[in-house]
Amino acid sequence: MSIGRTLKGIYSSLDQSGFWRQVVHFGRPPTDRRDLGWITFRQAVLRECAVRAKTPLPRTELKDFCSLLVSAQPRIRPLPRNLYSPTWDESILLCSLVQQVRPRRILELGTFDGRTSVHLAENAPEAEVVTIELYPGEIPYFSGANRLGAVQTGRWIGHFDIENRVRQVIGDSGIIDLSSDGPFDFVFIDADHSYEAVIRDTSRVLPNLSPGGVVVWHDYSTTSGVTQALNELASGLPMLYVAGSSLVIHSASWTVGMTSAQMRESLAKTSGSAPS
Ligand SMILES: C[S@@+](CC[C@H](N)C(=O)[O-])C[C@H]1O[C@@H](n2cnc3c(N)ncnc32)[C@H](O)[C@@H]1O
Repeated sequence: MSIGRTLKGIYSSLDQSGFWRQVVHFGRPPTDRRDLGWITFRQAVLRECAVRAKTPLPRTELKDFCSLLVSAQPRIRPLPRNLYSPTWDESILLCSLVQQVRPRRILELGTFDGRTSVHLAENAPEAEVVTIELYPGEIPYFSGANRLGAVQTGRWIGHFDIENRVRQVIGDSGIIDLSSDGPFDFVFIDADHSYEAVIRDTSRVLPNLSPGGVVVWHDYSTTSGVTQALNELASGLPMLYVAGSSLVIHSASWTVGMTSAQMRESLAKTSGSAPS
């Protein structure tokens, strides 16, 4: 049996046993080092060192950022996550931010299994969520996971009573007309992670962002495409990197040259003023 098959077999049995629910993520090393979370933690530390050295983005520490969101009570479902989903820390941050912004219209690029679609909808009770995912046959780098039955597009959405507020759109985020559903108050960009696609998705999202609207990118620092694209865009687009996570935030109300403290302050003031 090849190493690839063996690894897939192990992944499959771990997934089926609910193992991934146990995985602990960075910022808090698990006490049991046999837990895969320890590896994730080590990776995060190494990644953080690398990003510290070269990111041109203003940055805020996760703890400073979270202290701004003390009033938030993020609602997180204990849905199993896999290597492509936001970590628990990132989900908490994302949900807190959504509660802070109180969006009416949310866009997610890259539905995957719908874990984050559920989180976005449940933390913005007044919002309509549009989430875009490729046709199943076109999904590029998840075909292995699909063969294992680990991923069914948006499979979690139907399990909760947010179902009628979440609209799944099947298609390419680089082609689908975003203007018909916009403008959006909150956008989560997490589809194709190549440099070209991130530049493209970002340039398509920005004109469809409401005044004061917020964009969050996932996988900055964990994937070279997202990292390169955002590093490049940072010269003309105000962005805040939340260190200790792979999230980068932009608000339409920010201007280039703002400090990270000013950006955090502006997000804190966003509270209770839903943009649209
Ligand atoms: C990292 S996963 C998304 C994870 C999900 N947002 C979450 O938080 O759980 C990226 C997803 O984007 C999808 N994708 C890749 N390229 C895409 C494109 N051009 N248009 C729409 N979806 C795309 C992939 O098939 C994959 O399911």
